[in-house]
Amino acid sequence: MKRHILVLDTTLRDGEQVPGAKLNVQQKVEFAQQLKRLQVDMIEAGFPASSQGDFQAVQEIARSVGDAVSITALARAVKSDIDAVYESIKIAQDPFIHIVLGTSNIHVDKKFNRSKEAVLQMGVDAVKYAKSLLPRVQYSTEDASRSEFEYLWQTIEAVVKAGATIINVPDTVGYAIPEEFGDLIRRINERLKNLNEDVILSVHCHNDLGLATANTLAAIKNGADKVECTINGLGERAGNTSLEEVVMGLKVRENSYHCSTKIKTTELMRTSRLLTYLTGLDVQVNKAITGENAFAHSSGIHQDGLLKDKQVYEILSPEEVGAESMELILTARSGRHAFRNAVEKIGFETSDSADFEALFEKFLALADAKKEVYDHDVYYLVANHRTHEAASGHLYELISFQVVTNDLYPTATVKMNKGTEVFKGSAVGDGPIDALYSVIKSLVGLDVQLKDYKINSLSRGKEAIGRVNIRIEHHGKTYAGRAMDTDIIKASAMAFLNGINAALLDTANECPNPLKR
Ligand code: KIV
Ligand code: ZN
Repeated sequence: MKRHILVLDTTLRDGEQVPGAKLNVQQKVEFAQQLKRLQVDMIEAGFPASSQGDFQAVQEIARSVGDAVSITALARAVKSDIDAVYESIKIAQDPFIHIVLGTSNIHVDKKFNRSKEAVLQMGVDAVKYAKSLLPRVQYSTEDASRSEFEYLWQTIEAVVKAGATIINVPDTVGYAIPEEFGDLIRRINERLKNLNEDVILSVHCHNDLGLATANTLAAIKNGADKVECTINGLGERAGNTSLEEVVMGLKVRENSYHCSTKIKTTELMRTSRLLTYLTGLDVQVNKAITGENAFAHSSGIHQDGLLKDKQVYEILSPEEVGAESMELILTARSGRHAFRNAVEKIGFETSDSADFEALFEKFLALADAKKEVYDHDVYYLVANHRTHEAASGHLYELISFQVVTNDLYPTATVKMNKGTEVFKGSAVGDGPIDALYSVIKSLVGLDVQLKDYKINSLSRGKEAIGRVNIRIEHHGKTYAGRAMDTDIIKASAMAFLNGINAALLDTANECPNPLKR
């Protein structure tokens, strides 16, 4: 008989911790709606005690998709974190609290500087408190793969007796190897089934040795019933387990795993692309399942074999993961139906008809100007429209600019708006971009440092489009800004302003919290 594996997506919590991958509330809700279409079982929506913005995002996600997807959020083993999780997710239909506490000697000694017994008791108290708020509680034994087995088990036994309903075993630092991790899960599973067979055994792996998918699959083989993953493997350092790889691994090799998930695999590519658009973090071209080349065959021998029969070189079809004919070029004549289809295809909602009409008007203006409109144009159109709608009057908009470059005094002049306020100024710099960024910085009056500036050419269609990705630092946090235009100087200015707007939106949502990590 096939076992059902529960899939928890933690892109919006563990994935979003990546510097520069920070999303605003509206982007997070947009992504959560796509996760609902993907049919994940559970969404870890954030770490609400970390900031007011995170709290609000978790609450909005619980409100918008909590009717169909189980929602959780992360808490350390302290009352105030647990309260923040409870308050932010309680509106969802099937919410649960996720508590994390280390079990390895390194964590117990170095992080907490307490005895093992005291740390264990903190975990038990936290579970008991969480249980007084909600019936379902997940407990993560952080750094489990480097923990002494008997202490790890002692902790699991105690928190299960205190009421934990899911035990999550993380390979926090990506140290595990498949045989060893599989064996660890087998040993825990054997004891857990004797202790309380209703408790769900879950795993959460990191990819520091490139083994997160292999470790997760080994854990499933050895009894894990739930997996924690992120789209595109996004996450701390080398990332988390890639959801698409585990799901397709189970599907393609069902003969070996005898397991299935509820994931609608034809939504995988769309979800991956949406995340790329939202974060600006590209997927490596040869990434399994969602990379640009994942279904491309270039060698003559392979092409010849495929033409004879696809199965010669294809173990899964692009159609299964929704990768077939992803892109459709739109023009001013495309009409509402085609435009709606393109907006939905990249993962955005179109159910609000007034909002859709406003978008369609913007699309027509863009199509008139550009003639051919691609997916990335549609993405920027929708993303800018939604961000500006959500925060109209609070964000900067570029009105006009002029850059004069020479080897003596490269100079930039900029005019921009924020609501009804108009800002104008000029500055000299080491080069044209430096001059442009200097004047913008002086106009917004914020202490921002440019950390990274990248420009790529997207040479499709008639025009060569420049895509600019920047990263800025503001008050110790990194924000990304992106823009595309046929004019690379304009794209550079807009990307910088988008980064500044991201920092402003975040600061507006932030409130100092003593528990912040
Ligand atoms: O990597 C980790 O240990 C985590 C836990 C919170 C599950 O992210
Ligand atoms: Zn993690």
